[in-house]
Amino acid sequence: MGASEKSGKVVDMKAQSGESASLSVGGKTVQFPVYHAVEGAPVIDISKLYSDTGYFTYDPGFMSTAACESKITFIDGDEGILRYRGYDIDQLAEHSSFLEVAYLLLYGDLPDAKTRDDFVRTITLHTMVHEQLHFLFRGFPRASHPMAVMVGATASLSAFYHDSLDINVPEQRELAAYRLIAKMPTLAGMAYKYSLGQPFIYPRNELGFSENFLHMMFATPCEPYKVHPVLARAMDKILILHADHEQNASTSTVRLAGSSGANPFACLGAGIASLWGPAHGGANEAVINMLQEIGTVDNIPEFIAKVKDKNSGVRLMGFGHRVYKNYDPRAKVLYKTCQEVLDVLGRHDDPLLKIAVELEKIALSDDYFVSRKLYPNVDFYSGIIYRAMGIPSKMFTVLFAVARTVGWIAQWKEMMEDPKTKIGRPRQLFTGAEPRKFVPAEKR
Ligand code: CMC
Repeated sequence: MGASEKSGKVVDMKAQSGESASLSVGGKTVQFPVYHAVEGAPVIDISKLYSDTGYFTYDPGFMSTAACESKITFIDGDEGILRYRGYDIDQLAEHSSFLEVAYLLLYGDLPDAKTRDDFVRTITLHTMVHEQLHFLFRGFPRASHPMAVMVGATASLSAFYHDSLDINVPEQRELAAYRLIAKMPTLAGMAYKYSLGQPFIYPRNELGFSENFLHMMFATPCEPYKVHPVLARAMDKILILHADHEQNASTSTVRLAGSSGANPFACLGAGIASLWGPAHGGANEAVINMLQEIGTVDNIPEFIAKVKDKNSGVRLMGFGHRVYKNYDPRAKVLYKTCQEVLDVLGRHDDPLLKIAVELEKIALSDDYFVSRKLYPNVDFYSGIIYRAMGIPSKMFTVLFAVARTVGWIAQWKEMMEDPKTKIGRPRQLFTGAEPRKFVPAEKR
């Protein structure tokens, strides 16, 4: 840990490093600058590799490639550390609120009380969506997956909010950020209500962010609905835990889409599409499907045997992570939150929880998982909490999208403010056909 980090000040470590790395290739030896991170692995700047040597690097899945510089989130996967702007995730989940964390991610520091209240008020004033969006929702079949609806509805905001599309105007970028953070729960609530065939519930601005979200999900116009404070707090914590996760697939998608100058609503539509996949945000839904498929604790050994059989194609969902090779710190907080929610709802008898706890116990002592450093990730317990709250599994990834909206827009904003930003344009190792002449169809 550098002195700069201890004091909470971010120093441009790149400017201080005089180190370089040399590479000999094609009969040439070239030097590349090395930059030291405030925390985490140093990087070798190979941006001049092609012009200096005529070679590209090859790194499918970005296993060793830092695609950008960022000051927002830090992960130490070996130690199981996740920090937003220098603050440990468990401290933020315990003591902060989702909108305060949103401010932190967007602007770099925790706000004082007045600034926080002003920010909360600003977001709150943007919760309603254009009335015309009701017709967009009505065009979808009721049985649509809510993530399909969210991809479309989020990208469609660019058709409604023309005064926040000019990415070169800082005030418009700011307005787009407010709108996305504020309207995403409204869209998510609408997607859920639409799937049930119930009327949309308008936001109620006297409620807190997470309370309002749960109200839009569960209230009906027929009678008053009060959100239990423990559940509202649990939802707020879940949103904090999912708010950002540095350069994951969906965030990188948002950055790549945004690097071409696309508007932020369209970029977030792309991010939601990426999040939907079962290897990313779709895993929480897959965990519940898996637990249901296992059915009883007695069936766990047979299921584990299937997971270990490489030919079966079965994975233990909610386990393993590209970056964490230790217990996911978010899963630790969620386990506790899970107990609190089940206490309030009196759902400790949930058979799926019993299977999950037993599965975790067995997996954590099984050499297959231990040797590969496969630990529970954030999705292992979030699904059980959602299920206990009465949220159907198809909505799980939508909740992830509501939370991650803050991270996506903070990362997009950071990229837009970075003078070094260029259009993202990866290169390739071409292994297709050699040049050949066109032959008319009758002569092939
Ligand atoms: N169950 C069984 N085996 C696994 C699992 C798993 N969940 N995850 C990884 N492995 C094995 C994999 O077969 C490989 O074994 P071997 O070395 O013998 O070939 C080894 O562990 C390394 O796996 P990998 O696929 O190379 O690792 P990766 O970094 O590419 O994959 C992952 C990361 C998250 C896609 C993967 O662990 C996985 O598919 N997990 C289940 C899905 C899941 O829970 N995803 C949520 C991630 S957290 C939420 C988020 O950030 O989006």
